[in-house]
Amino acid sequence: MDDVKIGRRFFLKSGGAAAAVAGSVVIPIRNANAATPAVASGTTLPYPKKAVGSAKDMPLNQAVSFAYPDDSSACLAIRMGSPVPGGVGPNSDIVAYSSFCTHMGCPVNYEPGTKTFKCGCHFSIFDPENSGQMVTGQATEDLPRILLEYDAKTGNLHAVGVDGLIYGRQSNVL
Ligand code: FES
Repeated sequence: MDDVKIGRRFFLKSGGAAAAVAGSVVIPIRNANAATPAVASGTTLPYPKKAVGSAKDMPLNQAVSFAYPDDSSACLAIRMGSPVPGGVGPNSDIVAYSSFCTHMGCPVNYEPGTKTFKCGCHFSIFDPENSGQMVTGQATEDLPRILLEYDAKTGNLHAVGVDGLIYGRQSNVL
């Protein structure tokens, strides 16, 4: 990022009166050749590849706990029962999410009756069939999605990445 200095008179004429300061002001200007800004996950380190289990052992419409990308990051995987966007497995119906609510980090619980994640702290609700979308409540961000890989030969599932920033982290991979 480059900085450009302009005179006080020019700054005031061009509408910057609210932020007027003595002397000159510095306005950051993005260099078109600068590297792309970090993505939402904020991660620069590579994600590990971790086994989640076998697709055929996944119970229908029940949450299965695992940890990713490290042991302190709880996640839930669910076989929804019908294909969903981004779903993997033989029926493209297996999805996984961070279980930390994006509002203040309380654990979310999966409710099979409504097929939603609910946070007991301030009642946010998230939709696992729609990319973890925040449906209602205090949270303003969707649940971070755990990216899964399905090996059709072995039937195994692996977590390979995270789409979204896990609550409380500046970077998903520590
Ligand atoms: S921590 Fe989940 S809604 Fe507040």
